[in-house]
Amino acid sequence: MKKIAVLNNKGGVGKSTVAVQISHGLSMLGFKVILVDLDGQNDSSLFLGISEKDYNKTFFDLIDKRNDVKLEDCIINARESLDLLPNSHIEEINAEFYRESRIDLILNEKLQGLENLGYDFVVVDCGPQRTRINDSVLCYVDNIVMPVQVEAAAVRACGSIYEYLSDLRLSPDKISLIIPNMYDQRTRDAKENLEFLREFFKDEDNIVTNPINRRVKITEAGKMGKTVFEYDEESAQQFFEVLERLVKKVG
Ligand SMILES: Nc1ncnc2c1ncn2[C@@H]1O[C@H](COP(=O)(O)OP(=O)(O)OP(=O)(O)O)[C@@H](O)[C@H]1O
Ligand SMILES: [Mg+2]
Repeated sequence: MKKIAVLNNKGGVGKSTVAVQISHGLSMLGFKVILVDLDGQNDSSLFLGISEKDYNKTFFDLIDKRNDVKLEDCIINARESLDLLPNSHIEEINAEFYRESRIDLILNEKLQGLENLGYDFVVVDCGPQRTRINDSVLCYVDNIVMPVQVEAAAVRACGSIYEYLSDLRLSPDKISLIIPNMYDQRTRDAKENLEFLREFFKDEDNIVTNPINRRVKITEAGKMGKTVFEYDEESAQQFFEVLERLVKKVG
């Protein structure tokens, strides 16, 4: 079972979008996938068309010591071969994780059952910024996929992932893919920023993927609870290219 975090400290760069597309894409390639939504706004659940009314037990119930909830009871099916573990009360989860002394082990313990349920991939959608939850996710996963918005401030800040990993005493080798997102082909500015990103990671083996273009259809798909594979052929093609790289690198 491969464990992947979709993470970037910056908000609004496309983490939830990428988490949803790679999860659905992997399931379409025949893998059994679970998306763990640890983004407090439940965006990845919503992008899959699943809202609060569709679930009653969540990741929060799993870690709530007053409850004795089985992992299976918190999982809902989203698509063929794609399941979802939603969250609620994210601040309380974060507070609870602050009280845990072994943050490096907590998710292994709480999500232990996933292996037996036969998943090939666990994809974790992370919220922005450094949080205790994100610390725990970085310890849990073997692979990090980082979407970076192709925009000056965002590409310049992308090195902060190394600091974050170093502070947690984790290896930078966990970074598997950098996905330039919201790329606007028409502007010179975007081309320069993409070039900067490639240059920045040039010593890493083939880590920066082709960019995902900025397309209104991606936003629309999310709002309708559809993935790009169900709504936008052009973006679907771009995500398939990213998936090919991901499977080669991680699979
Ligand atoms: N390539 C793209 N083209 C157009 N819109 C996009 C693209 N990628 C993401 N978006 C849109 O940008 C917004 C932010 O994306 P998303 O929610 O995936 O970011 P995030 O990094 O998860 O944000 P947060 O930090 O709040 O969790 C959403 O409305 C999404 O539909
Ligand atoms: Mg998000």
